[in-house]
Amino acid sequence: MGRARWYITTPIYYPSDNLHIGHAYTTVAADAFARYHRLRGEAVWFVTGTDEHGQKIARQAAQRGQTPAAMVEEIVAGIRSLWATLGISYDDFIRTTEPRHARVVQAVFQRLMDQGDIYRGEYEGWYCVPDETFWPESKLVEGRCPDCGRPVERVREDSYFLRLSRYADRLLAYYAEHPDFVQPASRLHEMESFVRAGLEDLSVSRKGLSWGIPVPGDPEHTIYVWFDALLNYLTAAGYLADEERLAATWPPDVQLVGKEIVRFHAVIWPIILMALDLPLPKRVFGHGWLLLGDTKMSKSRGNVVDPVELVRKYGLDPVRYYLLREVPFGADGSYTEEALVLRTNVDLANDLGNLLHRTVAMIGRFNGGLVPPYRPGVEAPSLRQACAEAVREVEAAMEQLEVSRAMIAIGQLVRAANKYIEERQPWNLYREPQDRELLDDVLYNLAETLRILSVLLTPFLVETPERIRRQLGIREPVRHWEETAWGRTLAGTPVEPGPPLFPRREWNPEPEPAPTTPVEPAEPAAPPRISIQDFSRIDLRVGRVEAAEVVPGADRLLKLRIDLGGEVRTVVSGIRSHYGPDDLVGRHVVVVANLEPARIRGIVSEGMILAASDDGRLTLVGPWDAIPPGARVR
Ligand code: ME8
Ligand code: MG
Repeated sequence: MGRARWYITTPIYYPSDNLHIGHAYTTVAADAFARYHRLRGEAVWFVTGTDEHGQKIARQAAQRGQTPAAMVEEIVAGIRSLWATLGISYDDFIRTTEPRHARVVQAVFQRLMDQGDIYRGEYEGWYCVPDETFWPESKLVEGRCPDCGRPVERVREDSYFLRLSRYADRLLAYYAEHPDFVQPASRLHEMESFVRAGLEDLSVSRKGLSWGIPVPGDPEHTIYVWFDALLNYLTAAGYLADEERLAATWPPDVQLVGKEIVRFHAVIWPIILMALDLPLPKRVFGHGWLLLGDTKMSKSRGNVVDPVELVRKYGLDPVRYYLLREVPFGADGSYTEEALVLRTNVDLANDLGNLLHRTVAMIGRFNGGLVPPYRPGVEAPSLRQACAEAVREVEAAMEQLEVSRAMIAIGQLVRAANKYIEERQPWNLYREPQDRELLDDVLYNLAETLRILSVLLTPFLVETPERIRRQLGIREPVRHWEETAWGRTLAGTPVEPGPPLFPRREWNPEPEPAPTTPVEPAEPAAPPRISIQDFSRIDLRVGRVEAAEVVPGADRLLKLRIDLGGEVRTVVSGIRSHYGPDDLVGRHVVVVANLEPARIRGIVSEGMILAASDDGRLTLVGPWDAIPPGARVR
């Protein structure tokens, strides 16, 4: 049998559009854990990939006028190139459209049918396409998806069901015996109450949706995209293909997912594994969301930030640093470019960059550019202790999957070293010949701390460790975590002053576009009374949204084509943080039809749509029952 592998996975992402920094967040974190374990000498198996089937993908392709196969080909190529740009060191990239995966999915489906864990019935209820989730009527919130708040669709069709109910008790017992199975612990508690409330059997097929893996022996049905997707983790481990690889790899050590899909990974997934008699993953970690303002960044809402753009503007390591450092891993946090610039300037340019610059410059000035000899015992070991503490803290944090805490520990070591310079004042020691040995020691300690920092940073940053080492005169790359041990810097090594590690960045936000359709207008005092004649001057009409697209470069805007019955208008509306284009097409809204046209971002907007808003929430207003576009509202 092969050597045991440390197996870590990310969710496999929908190639329904280009990925954004939310996806980069999960993937960069997984990459940091993978790099950390590799550096410790473990055989790591790090898998990411794409979830390519299902209705969401099929629809998006239709909307783009492409076949699903052509669309995913194009987007997946972009995703691979994104991961290359971000330095993601995955070992396997799995696509659910690969034959190796279809084999596994069909074999598992067949086995569960044979065992009676999957049976045939009829599904009647609702379906959220953007989330690819079935919802019973009772779970809807105001007629919408309880997870994402978007509209759901009625489904009534023959279907295959997975007998979740059969496993509820076993699952609860498993949670109780494995309190680390789902993390953070609060998410395990949520799952417990969810399961306790009663598990209904899950529909695991769709009828009449051809973009998927066919149900064995019943090709009118395709396998439910989540059943298909979850099995990627088995395919990538060699299940039913390579027993040796499977034995070395299974079960996963860490499965990172966003909190919105913990339920799939903590309920459905373990039940499938129980049915297959396979061990469950050791840890499923549900991290929080990157928000834009107070809304989750998401492809379907279109309120996204492009990581490629950020890397082009700020460089790879500042972006990785920001993603790993800014938000406590597990919690939600708002993305702002300003915070990214601040982190780059303060933590990287100032603290780390200056530490390196000053150390190398002082070794140049006070010791002819050579690292001085180290004489243990001359100088108090404060910095050496700070290094040892940082190493222990990073190890503990990484073990607990608290990647931001690991970054904080590294930042503290950097600041301790800068403070050490202020306290020891090497420039004063240099003036006193009797302080020579002390000066040597201080300079050595600083060079050694920077070398240790280059090792500590290796799991997280891609370019910086080697750039630090080059200036310290170290030619070899970091090879092993054990190099965090004190005392490896060689006396007499010539340092090589270089350019600043990180240039400082300017922060000039782009001016906000002039207010257009107000999104959340300041609450005015109640307007004055008007007569019915005044009111009748406003031409309100029912309109049907024919098309919707994001306005490039404008975070809040959507460009709508609205049918007013015989006339199609263009309306630019600032609702993009509340609705994505997919949410709107086909819906009926109320339009102010006689509003003076206005030019917004170069687009002539010929009207305004009505929405109700309260405390950051916003909902569009429309007719209760079907009525043709153009109908007057009064
Ligand atoms: O859910 N903040 O794919 P997906 C943080 N195909 N993380 C975010 C994020 C945000 N704003 N937005 C996305 C799917 N993510 C399924 C998964 S797995 C068998 C199938 C990250 O394209 C986060 O990890 O919607 C989230 O769980 C994942 O992307 C969802 O990506
Ligand atoms: Mg999603």
